[in-house]
Order: sequence, then C-alpha cells, then structure tokens
Amino acid sequence: MAEPIPNCHVVAMPYPGRGHINPMLNLCRLIHHYRPDILISFVVTEEWLGFLAPGSTPPSPNFSYRTIPNVIPSEIGRAKDFPGFFEATLTKMEAPVEQLLDRLQPSVIIYDTYLSWVVELGNRRNIPVASFYTMSATVFSIFHHFDHILQNHHLCSNFSGKRPSHSNGSAIEQLVNYIPGVPPIKFTDLPTPFHSKGHEVLPRALEAIKLTQKAQYLLFTSVYELESQVLESLRQKLHLIKIYSLGLAIPYNFNITHQNSKPDYIMKWLDAQPPCSVLYISQGSFLFVSNAQLDEIIAGVRASGVRFLWVSRGEADNRLQENGGSSSNNSGLVVPWCDQLKVLCHPSVGGFWSHCGWNLTKESAFSGLPMLTFPIFWDQVTNSKVIVEDWKIGLRVKKEDEGLVTRDEVARLVLRIMDSESEDGKERRRRAKEIREVCEVASAGGGSSKIDILAFIRDMFFMYV
Ligand SMILES: *[C@@H]1O[C@H](CO)[C@@H](O)[C@H](O)[C@H]1NC(C)=O
Ligand SMILES: *[C@@H]1O[C@H](CO)[C@@H](O)[C@H](O)[C@H]1NC(C)=O
Ligand SMILES: *[C@@H]1O[C@H](CO)[C@@H](O)[C@H](O)[C@H]1NC(C)=O
Ligand SMILES: *[C@@H]1O[C@H](CO)[C@@H](O)[C@H](O)[C@H]1NC(C)=O
Ligand SMILES: *[C@@H]1O[C@H](CO)[C@@H](O)[C@H](O)[C@H]1NC(C)=O
Repeated sequence: MAEPIPNCHVVAMPYPGRGHINPMLNLCRLIHHYRPDILISFVVTEEWLGFLAPGSTPPSPNFSYRTIPNVIPSEIGRAKDFPGFFEATLTKMEAPVEQLLDRLQPSVIIYDTYLSWVVELGNRRNIPVASFYTMSATVFSIFHHFDHILQNHHLCSNFSGKRPSHSNGSAIEQLVNYIPGVPPIKFTDLPTPFHSKGHEVLPRALEAIKLTQKAQYLLFTSVYELESQVLESLRQKLHLIKIYSLGLAIPYNFNITHQNSKPDYIMKWLDAQPPCSVLYISQGSFLFVSNAQLDEIIAGVRASGVRFLWVSRGEADNRLQENGGSSSNNSGLVVPWCDQLKVLCHPSVGGFWSHCGWNLTKESAFSGLPMLTFPIFWDQVTNSKVIVEDWKIGLRVKKEDEGLVTRDEVARLVLRIMDSESEDGKERRRRAKEIREVCEVASAGGGSSKIDILAFIRDMFFMYV
C-alpha cells in the first residue's frame, strides 16, 4: 500500500430514502474496504441515524456518521406528499450541511444526484464533487436527453419552450427510439415523471441531471456489461466528467454483519422446500396500489398453489393476514424482513415478484431468477421494460392502463413464471443464467466493477489501491 496521504476525507451526502441511502452506504464501505485510511463522513438526518443504527455500526473510527437536524418531513411525510418532500430536500438541507462542511473540511463530496444543490456548494468552495446516481444509466440518459424528447414531440412544452407541460396524446403511440444507447422504448415506459406519477417534480429532476455536468465525477451503480452502450454514449457526450460504473454496489465480496440476520427460520423454511419451487415476493411499499388490487394479488398468488415467501410490512401485511389463514391451499411464509440476496440465491427459490426498483433489479440479475414485474413509480417502469423486453427474463403483471389485474391473471402469471418445462419457461431461465454470468464476471476480481471503483479512488486521491 502506498503512503497514506493526509487530508483524504470523503463526505457522503445521500438523498434521504432507503433506496438511496443503502447504495451510498455500500459505496462508502467499499471505499473503506480498499483504503481504510481514507476518512469517511456519512451525513444523514437525525431521524435516519435512528433507522441506520441497528444494522450498521461504523466499521472503524475512520468511518463516521454525521447528522444534520430533522429539517425535512419524516419518512411518513415522504410517503404522503412526495413532491413536498422532494422540494424540502432541495431547499432545507443546504444550510445545515454547509455548517457541517465548515467543520469537516472534506477533500471530496460524494452526493446523491438528486440533491443537486451540493454541486454548486462544492464548486463555490472548490471541493471536487462526485455525483452518485442510484438508478440505471439508461434512466439517467433518458432524463439527460430531454431535449430529444421535446424535439420529437413526445412532450409539449409551454410558451418558454423549455418547460415540459404535458405529454402529447397523439405522439404517445410512437416509440422513443432516439435516445443514444437506449433500445427503442414506449413513451409510457419512460420514468413516470414524464407521463404520470411524479410529473410535478419533472423540472426539478431534469435540473438535477443537468447539474451533474458541473461535477467532476459521475458514478453509476450499473454493471458495465449490461449497459455498455448507454455508458459509452454518455462518456462521449459528457467528456469533461469522469464516469465510472461501480456494478452492483453490493457487498458481494466482503462481510457485512446484519444484526437483523437472526431470522434463521427463513433459511430453515427454504431448506425444507423443493428446488426452484418458491416464488419470492418483494413489492416494497404498496403506496400507490389500491386495496382492491392488493386483494386480487393475494388471492391470485394463493390460488396458483405455488409456494411463496413474501416480504411485507404495514398495510399489505394486515391484508395478507386477513385474507390468508384458513383458505390457504399452498404453503407460504410472510416475513417483515429478510436478507434478500441470500434468499434470492437459495436453491429453493425459483422466481421473483418485484417492484423493479434498481436495487432489486440488480440483485435479481445477480441471482439469475426469472421475474414478474409490478412497477409503480419513477424508474421502476423503465426497469420493468428492460427486464421483460431487453433481457427477456420476465413477464409483466402490471397493466399499462392502470386497470385492475384480476386474481385469475395473477395466478396464471405466477404459474407461468415458475414453470421450467415449457419452451418459453426454459428460454427465460437460460437468459436469466446468462445475465447472472455477466454480473458474476463484472463483480469478480479483475471485473469491470472492481476496476472502476479502484480507478475512482485513484483519480480522487492520486493514491494506489
Ligand atoms: C436493497 O433494498 C433492500 C430493501 O430495502 C435492502 O435490504 C438492501 O440492503 C438493498 N440493497 C442495496 C444494494 O442497496
Ligand atoms: C485511519 O486513517 C489513518 C490515516 O488517515 C490511518 O493512519 C489509520 O491507520 C486508519 N485507521 C484504521 C483503523 O484503519
Ligand atoms: C410554463 O411553465 C412554468 C414552469 O413550470 C410555469 O410556471 C408557467 O405557469 C407555465 N406557463 C403556462 C402558460 O403554462
Ligand atoms: C404532438 O405530436 C404530433 C405527432 O408527432 C405532432 O405533429 C404535434 O406537433 C405534437 N404537438 C405538440 C403540441 O407538440
Ligand atoms: C464472512 O464471515 C464468516 C463468519 O465470520 C467467515 O466464515 C467467512 O469466511 C467470511 N467471508 C469472507 C468473504 O470474508
């Protein structure tokens, strides 16, 4: 190892949401793993420190959590009023973070791309910034090429000619086939802010993507081989910024101790099931899903007769309990939490029902399982399209027109995804294995993900790893 260089201090500024904090935490742990002499300050609100504490004690004195006051609405506020919450992350966090920076004097800031004010803060203070994008490079590129979407009339703009106002009904049928590196995609498969949920924040999201051009580094949590064309086209276009693809950003190569990993009964239960027989269901929050739809899903899964392991909290959990019990003709386990990657890699698990968050999408690619997709928000619909149409390892459950998916359809799809005998089922499993191999190669010793993380550390600090 080279001589430690004084003043290597990274401040990490995640966006306050689980799907953002986890990958940022994993990135910091990776940096720490390779260079324990780099100081890392991980900044969260006091509320979030409470959520993190049980499973994530800092691995060393050089890795510490720093807090800012709870200046933004709570997690519950986030669920109730997403635009208000997003706006608060853009307006309320800067002042306390600036005070913290006065004390910390970092040499680099890694920030979540959506906290766009950090770039200008870093530029003002001459601190290099790395923009960390927790969604796919494909989704980044779609936002980045917003001008193409306007030029092709998929969105109407208002008088200023710059601001999107609403999607263009008559152009909706035409494929979006003009985003460099992105295979043709239906307009309704673009991230939801372009056409439905979250449209209020589209201008803000576009601005965040635009501001990355003022950062020095851009970090993707993509597996290079899975998105090489998009990544290469972005490299050409954004040639002033250094771009890295850090792969799964999951700790596949070293140990993270989860205090919560006690529920061993899950592994015991899985051990007792036949190979490839269990459908793993992780829908996350059912925030935008009606109770009627939820009841159809529960009834459909039960009617299929397929064994299932369902991770569920809150509302969905109550309805599962109510609708479950006596009528069950198949065995299922409902759990509040599990070690997802361990479950996905268990030989008894043969299929995966997912909301298609990027984090889940990568974990499932890594596990080589065929998937049922039920995307709801933001990039999930785009990830679902990639899974179903580009990777060809999944089937869509969710209807495009938001109509109710009936229990019969759910049961039919569950049986189809678990099937490994039909041509169609065999082909999906073969493809899923291929995708897994790509991920394995990328994550292995000399693979693209490791090369890029080491390059990023080297470029940041001119130090060898
Ligand atoms: C993915 O999300 C799950 C559920 O929130 C979490 O347990 C897991 O740690 C996440 N993985 C990554 C790589 O962020
Ligand atoms: C913490 O970092 C310093 C240099 O910044 C290094 O000398 C020390 O060994 C590190 N401590 C650990 C536990 O790695
Ligand atoms: C144009 O867009 C801006 C920003 O979204 C908005 O404030 C303004 O009211 C819009 N004008 C019209 C005519 O829709
Ligand atoms: C809507 O799309 C059609 C067909 O692509 C196009 O001719 C028309 O100009 C678009 N309208 C607006 C307001 O962009
Ligand atoms: C992870 O920890 C377990 C138990 O402490 C140990 O047996 C195993 O070798 C570790 N794996 C790695 C990759 O360090």
